[in-house]
Amino acid sequence: MIESKLPATGTTIFSVMSRLAAEHQAINLGQGFPGFAMDGELIDLVADFMRKGFNQYAPMPGIAELREVIADKIYHQYGHRYQAESEITITAGGTQALFTAITALVHQDDEVILFAPAYDCYAPAVEVNGGKCVWYDMPWPDYRVNWDHMKKLINHKTRMILINTPHNPTGTVLHEEDLRELERLVRGTNIIVLSDEVYEHIVFDDMLHQSVVRFPELVSRSLVVYSFGKTFHATGWKMGYVCGPEDLMREFRKVHQYNVFSCNTPIQYALSVYMKNESHYQELSSFYQKKRDLFLKQLSGSRFKVLPSTGTYFQLLGYESISMAKDTDFAIELTKEKKITGIPCSVFYPDHADHKVLRFCFAKEDVDIIKAAEILRNV
Ligand SMILES: Cc1ncc(COP(=O)(O)O)c(C=O)c1O
Repeated sequence: MIESKLPATGTTIFSVMSRLAAEHQAINLGQGFPGFAMDGELIDLVADFMRKGFNQYAPMPGIAELREVIADKIYHQYGHRYQAESEITITAGGTQALFTAITALVHQDDEVILFAPAYDCYAPAVEVNGGKCVWYDMPWPDYRVNWDHMKKLINHKTRMILINTPHNPTGTVLHEEDLRELERLVRGTNIIVLSDEVYEHIVFDDMLHQSVVRFPELVSRSLVVYSFGKTFHATGWKMGYVCGPEDLMREFRKVHQYNVFSCNTPIQYALSVYMKNESHYQELSSFYQKKRDLFLKQLSGSRFKVLPSTGTYFQLLGYESISMAKDTDFAIELTKEKKITGIPCSVFYPDHADHKVLRFCFAKEDVDIIKAAEILRNV
């Protein structure tokens, strides 16, 4: 009999709903991945580097050329210069960066503050490392953090606060005043901030992405996680990076070197060339804003309640005026009977709080967005 280290953890909802969508030939707006082709220029670059023989292990923290490009990019965007040599590490996607950061920094019985609803990879990473998740529930339906309430969760055992902006699943973003509040809360403590910013380039309505990197007191105590997959429509490549001050990065790399050692070499060389052209990521927000707007326009007149999406490629829809079924049941019913798949938001809560809300991913071809919205309009 195996004693599970994660007894409460099952198969992720994304696998479950994607399998169901395929079985019932439903349009899958469940899992968050682009339903369109990535840029052929980047594919050609990878192929070129492979042909030129860049196919062996990269250095453990990533190739210097790519880390230099990232250091410049972050400096121009957020005004802080990371040292490419000691403060940036290339990872196998955002997920590995998050897991490695938690493994490297969370000790047995340390507390980690998480915000519910939360992306589903955080809590298992804390628990498998012997840490304790302490949850702050973001008030539904606007999901704005009340920092006075949140700060009551902080005590001498708090090792880490994990934030995520733009936020999956809600599609909300943190504002400058939120980051200022966070800065005030952690001042004078040893708390580490782990900031998941994989959707940094998907922010709508002329809002600025409020990276912790913009805030000197936060940057000095934060590991910040990014994903090439989200930014370059290549989620299957599982490539990302993490930045942080040298003392935190030293600990990060102690674990990184033994759980992946290093990441895909030709892709790193290709990205180091491709990323020099800023338009490859600066136009992403307007690209996705058009998709969000198309989805919302096509949904007009539907009985679903639209919750504002100001970032990410997710749109929350409330269905209280349609059904009082449990959100997991309603998502299954929609898949089987209407041929459209979303993710029930209760799965993002530790206590499965059910606000009758489903998450839909609009990173899809316009024809699919229109088809999906037409189905939803008629529910
Ligand atoms: C909030 C959030 N963080 C991290 C990740 C993982 O990123 P990656 O695919 O680069 O591992 C995702 C992917 O869906 C995400 O939504």
